[in-house]
Amino acid sequence: MRLIIAIIQPYRLEEVKAELYKAEVNLITVSEVLGHGRQKGVTEVYRGNKETGNLLRKIRLEIAVNEKFVEPTINAIIKGAKTGETGDGKIFVLDLKECVRIRTGERGGTAIG
Ligand SMILES: Nc1ncnc2c1ncn2[C@@H]1O[C@H](COP(=O)(O)OP(=O)(O)OP(=O)(O)O)[C@@H](O)[C@H]1O
Ligand SMILES: [Mg+2]
Repeated sequence: MRLIIAIIQPYRLEEVKAELYKAEVNLITVSEVLGHGRQKGVTEVYRGNKETGNLLRKIRLEIAVNEKFVEPTINAIIKGAKTGETGDGKIFVLDLKECVRIRTGERGGTAIG
């Protein structure tokens, strides 16, 4: 199992969700976060996206998946989030040791999807 964390531009969220649904990835956590990449927020501040100092408003997605959904999930995020401009975002893929569905007590691969 893997935990995919993606930081994307807020205005790309609906498109990313649509691409994830097309890839049959239907379970997702979304948070509003602040961050900056290697431009330290500077170029995007000029584009009117400024939030707090040089920290810019971003969306963080967390998606836990079984192995066969890793590449489809990554591809869906790229398809929905890519504009070619700086600040498009980043995807982090972490090993995930366990997943428990609280309601049923299921664990692992059956609990995840
Ligand atoms: N190495 C990192 N560690 C933690 N968060 C990061 C990292 N890189 C990017 N982020 C987060 O992702 C957001 C988008 O990053 P961004 O796309 O600007 O990356 P970048 O490396 O600057 O690439 P680009 O040159 O395409 O802009 C940042 O605002 C930050 O929240
Ligand atoms: Mg950047």
